Amino acid sequence: MKGYQLMIHGGCGDNINPDKFHKTLEDILIYGGNLLSRNLSALDVVEKVSVELENSTLFNAGKGSVLTHDGEIEMDAAIMDGLNLNCGSALCVQGIKNPISLARRIMEKSEHVILSGKGAQEFAKDFGFKIYKKDHFLTKERIMQWENAKKHNKVVLDHSNNTNNEEKFGTIGAIARDNKGNLAATTSTGGIVNKKYNRVGDSPIIGAGVYADNETCAVSTTGYGEQFLKIVAAKHASDIIKYKSLSAQETANETIKYLVTKVKGLGGIIIIDKFGNFGSAFSTKKMIHGYITSNKIKILT
Ligand code: GLY
Repeated sequence: MKGYQLMIHGGCGDNINPDKFHKTLEDILIYGGNLLSRNLSALDVVEKVSVELENSTLFNAGKGSVLTHDGEIEMDAAIMDGLNLNCGSALCVQGIKNPISLARRIMEKSEHVILSGKGAQEFAKDFGFKIYKKDHFLTKERIMQWENAKKHNKVVLDHSNNTNNEEKFGTIGAIARDNKGNLAATTSTGGIVNKKYNRVGDSPIIGAGVYADNETCAVSTTGYGEQFLKIVAAKHASDIIKYKSLSAQETANETIKYLVTKVKGLGGIIIIDKFGNFGSAFSTKKMIHGYITSNKIKILT
């Protein structure tokens, strides 16, 4: 397919009011589409678009992340370049305004793929990242959601419907194919509400929550991370394309079917294949997502 393609998601769940997300998704897709039309690389665009999603308090990533059991904010993010399989991942980081940019810096400036916790923060400081106070990330809605989860003694998916909380938020992700046909992917999250023990989900784990390979596809996931980790969801999708040559949509359907049958998984996946076709599927009632190409924009839930 000629031209560029960009797809983003803002999480999934059972109790989402899609109208609330429409304008923000549209604005961010138009912003990313403009960058791709000016020949920015897929890698630059997925980072820039993810920064916008992290800066919006509508989503569970960056500002507006969910709270841990101890009332802290611990964020996870990963980025992958389909051109060369370079990737970077920041786990359980605090005080970083845009964890996705830290993940990219880890990819480009360290000899490692994953840095975590205090070490990741030290690396960030060494590379000029400002460390923000917790107040920057906190929102009233998140505090209410946390209090509710603690009251019910539950560790909950950011948008599950079992806390009686009408406000739903989500992990974010972006996948793109640029004018040269290069693919890239990101996923960034605050994790799950009331999590303990520095818990990390699928989002920053290459092959589980994110994957990009120019020979197959770019993938980002959202949902209950433990289940996506068990099936190594993003690489599973890439392997389906590599070994079964299914379309992006068939691959998304098959991956979510596998997630449900193997581990009763709750969540969703977005895919752009090497030809520029889109695919998306989810086992929750809704997934906030949308895409843009050179001549079309579509918001889906
Ligand atoms: N999928 C996000 C998480 O489980 O942390």
